[in-house]
Amino acid sequence: MKTFNIGIIGDGTVAQTHIRALSFLDNVHIAAVCDVKSPEKINIPDGAVYYSDYKKMIEEQKLDAVHICLPHYLHLPVASYCASKHVPVLCEKPVAMNYREVEEMEGLQDKYGVTVAVCLQNRWNNTFRTLQSVVESGKDGRLTGLKAVALWARDQAYYDRAPWRGRMEYAGGGCLINQAVHTLDQVLLLGGKAKSVKGIVTNVLDLDIEVEDSSVSEVVFENGVRALIMASNANTVNSTIELEAVFENAVYTIKDYKLYRAPADDTLAKSVIAEDELMPGAKSYYGAGHKVLIKDFYDYLSGDGGRVVSVKEAGTVIKLIDTIREAGRWCICALGWRELSSS
Ligand SMILES: NC(=O)c1ccc[n+]([C@@H]2O[C@H](COP(=O)([O-])OP(=O)(O)OC[C@H]3O[C@@H](n4cnc5c(N)ncnc54)[C@H](O)[C@@H]3O)[C@@H](O)[C@H]2O)c1
Repeated sequence: MKTFNIGIIGDGTVAQTHIRALSFLDNVHIAAVCDVKSPEKINIPDGAVYYSDYKKMIEEQKLDAVHICLPHYLHLPVASYCASKHVPVLCEKPVAMNYREVEEMEGLQDKYGVTVAVCLQNRWNNTFRTLQSVVESGKDGRLTGLKAVALWARDQAYYDRAPWRGRMEYAGGGCLINQAVHTLDQVLLLGGKAKSVKGIVTNVLDLDIEVEDSSVSEVVFENGVRALIMASNANTVNSTIELEAVFENAVYTIKDYKLYRAPADDTLAKSVIAEDELMPGAKSYYGAGHKVLIKDFYDYLSGDGGRVVSVKEAGTVIKLIDTIREAGRWCICALGWRELSSS
């Protein structure tokens, strides 16, 4: 069995989940990590060499792949550099800051003949895969509607810890591209080809950030399915994602990492039909998807099965987010504020 010597670029929050997921694989060795932070401030796995410059890391180490766990604005330039050096890439979501960047990134795989894959791990969740199979089989009739609710809590400290997250120039947006991107991606996979979008991006909390903390949108698909999507970082806790799919004969709901089915004529008679695995030691709302997605990435590189999300596939949701933002330009998007009188 080939051992992959790999590098991690960006050793911050999500990189710890990658390191944990990689610890389950016998055929991958983290040979190097790169971060602009000094080595004492990051987690360097045993046996890995530290670099502050990713180009030097690529030059000096013979790497079989890199994981890009960097702020959004660095995905395109760093993926382009690594691909140009013929090093396969697993890039964290969002694939890029906007659709113009996606189009630039799309050509890398063919131009340099290397795999460039994207980490949209919720596609691997058991609950979601089971729901996808219900749509595909048609066993409960036609899908008619979708509802997605992604409500998380992100306070000023979250943005102060990593200031790029609150800046348009570095993050490309807020709750849509950073948190709800997985859920929007799932809505698109279930709904089919999107035809039109209505939407608004706004801020509920008075934080010192440029990016949106909330959004409501409606996507209408060519097959007539209508999806209502609510995303916000202004909740007081990280609620688990809710994804509801209404069919002619049943309603399916993913909530609390379980998939429920209820007959259309008795929607309270729910039964659990699938459950997600959670990865020990990782934040529960990330799911266990990183573990299986990363295993699949290396199986794919080994030619041993496995599947990956291409830049093109991961770009569809970025196009949707750009379109919600564009649609939202045409409405008043600040929330009005009044005090309630005590009399
Ligand atoms: N898939 C998921 O569920 C999930 C979850 C969280 C974050 N993410 C994504 O992971 C990426 C990173 O997010 P995060 O929350 O870990 O960010 P973070 O700020 O915690 O970590 C980013 C790291 O990159 C380092 N860095 C910045 N510029 C660098 C450079 N030029 N060279 C090397 N290192 C550099 C920073 O010092 C930091 O340690 C983002 O794309 C984010 O959207 C994905």
